[in-house]
Order: sequence, then structure tokens, then C-alpha cells
Amino acid sequence: MAAIPDIVEKDLKKLETSIDKLITTKIHVIKEIVNYIIKSGGKRVRPILVILSARLCGYKGEKHIPYAAIIEFIHTATLLHDDVVDNAKTRRGFSTVNTVWGNEPSVLVGDFLYSKSFELMAREGNDMILQVISAATTALSEGEILEIVKTADINTTEKEYFQIIGNKTAVLFAAACEIGAILGKSTQQRRKDMSNFGYNLGMAFQLMDDILDYTSFDNVLGKRVGTDLQEGKVTLPLIHALRSATDEEKSYITKVIDKPRITARDFSRARKIIEKYNGIDYTLSTAENYTKNAKGHLKSFPESRYKEALLTLTNHMLSREK
Ligand code: FPP
Ligand code: MG
Repeated sequence: MAAIPDIVEKDLKKLETSIDKLITTKIHVIKEIVNYIIKSGGKRVRPILVILSARLCGYKGEKHIPYAAIIEFIHTATLLHDDVVDNAKTRRGFSTVNTVWGNEPSVLVGDFLYSKSFELMAREGNDMILQVISAATTALSEGEILEIVKTADINTTEKEYFQIIGNKTAVLFAAACEIGAILGKSTQQRRKDMSNFGYNLGMAFQLMDDILDYTSFDNVLGKRVGTDLQEGKVTLPLIHALRSATDEEKSYITKVIDKPRITARDFSRARKIIEKYNGIDYTLSTAENYTKNAKGHLKSFPESRYKEALLTLTNHMLSREK
């Protein structure tokens, strides 16, 4: 990510070493699949948040590194599951694990990473962090399930959409930041501030993801553009457009969203409808509001290069291209 601050560079090197060290298994294929996805060029946004939050909250030790690795493992586990659910063919510019090895290995290696994360956390023995992460993973599953329930439902409301993305994405961002505050032995208020900062940032991140799914290009994004429409996901650009769309446009979207395979023409027509009703601009300004809220939660923290880095990362969220 372009906004990766220099001050976390050393910690990020340690993170990579820690990732290698912590994935212990005698089963060769697990190692092969984990390496394949985890070395495929993820942005490491969530581990960066753990690192910066811990330092912002005055933490001086080294435990933030294994926790940053654990957060990345959990995130990777969700991607291995999500790509099966979404029938995704590419991620980060490579074929997905489900495409190369099949659905079963993708789900089961996801289970391995998820279980390994909890094994490692139990070993660390910090109950507060364990509580935060277990609540976050429960929310992740709820978000993903609610999303399935709402598949192809063109009456999905903005509120329901926020509930979905809040659970499936923002909650893990919130947990990453709260871990930092817990490590720094912060007050309850600071813990809340860090968690709220992460939550709002996570909302902005997913809103941008849902914009890029309509506006980007496969080779830039590293995954297939138009997947949301193809998979029947009714995201904010579409929700907003549907509020003002004509009956004819609505029935067109209903037809497309139910199709097992959409064509390039279908996608381009849907995109035109979204553009006509400013679905992208509306989503962008919603994301901007979330970044403003996120920054507001950092106000009470004293100025530091870590705070500066978190603010830069937050601003960068709105211009991210992948
Ligand atoms: C990506 O969304 C998916 C998520 C952020 C959450 C996935 C959660 C699960 C599969 C359930 C929980 C699993 C575990 C192991 C606790 P997206 O499909 O909009 O993004 P994408 O375009 O990058 O695929
Ligand atoms: Mg997906």
C-alpha cells in the first residue's frame, strides 16, 4: 500500500519472519497453500493497524508482532472461505486457491489457519485480546451469512448493507486497533476510541472495495471486476441507484442479478444505471464521512509519528486503487 509508513518498515520485516515461524505443520500441502496465498502480495493493512495502534498507545514490547501475524492469518482464513463462497477465480493477481487446489483444500486450509490463530492466542495468554478477537470472528461469520441471505435481493436497504459490511470487514479492523490499545494498557476510553477508529476505517475500506468492483480493471485490482453483480451482491452503488431507478431499470437489474452468468453488456448497462444516479459518487462521499469519523476518534491522542501515520493511512483509503 502506497501509504505504508517508513516507521513500521522494521516491524513489517519482523512480521514476515513471524508469519513463517508461526505456521508450523507437518502437512506439506498446508504449508504450500498457506505460502501461496500469504506471500501473494497482500497489503497487510490489518497487521499495520495492530503495529501502529500498539505504538500509538505507548506499547514498548514485541508482542504486537505475533498478534499482527495472527490478525493476518484470520484475515487469510476468511479469504480462503470467501473465495469459495464467491466462486472467485483470481485474487491479488493470481488464481485463487479454490481454482488451483479445489474448494475442499481452500475451506480446510482456511480452517487450519483459523484454528492455528486461536492456538497461538491461547499460548499468548491475554484473555482480553482473546475476547476481542473471538467476538470479531463471530461477527465476521454473521456478516458473511447475512450477505448470503441478501443475495440478489434488490430491496436490500442501506441499513442492511451497513450491517453486512460492518460485520464482515469493519469489525476485524476495529479488533486490530483495539489489540494495540490493550497491549498499551490503555484506559477503557482509549480502547473504545481505537476500536471506533478501526471500525470507521474498515467501513471506508469496504465501501472503496465495493466502488472498485464497478470502476477498476482486472489487472489493477488483481481480482475480477464486476464480481459483486455477477454474484448477486447488492452493494451501496447499486442500492443508491435503485432508489431513483425507473421501473424498467429496476426490472433490468433484477433480471441481471438473477442470471447465472452476466455478459460484458449486462455489466456495462448496470454500470450506466449506477452512473446515471450517481451511485459511485454517493458511495465515495459515504466513505469520506467514515474516514472523517475515524480521524475524529484519534483527536484525543497526543501528536506522534504513529498518529500521523494512522491519519495518512486513513486519508489514503479514499484514493486506493486496489
Ligand atoms: C471479503 O468480502 C470477505 C470478508 C471480508 C469476510 C469473509 C468472512 C467469512 C468467509 C466468514 C468467516 C470465516 C472465518 C474463518 C471466521 P468481498 O467478497 O466483498 O471482498 P473480495 O472482493 O476481496 O472477495
Ligand atoms: Mg469475495
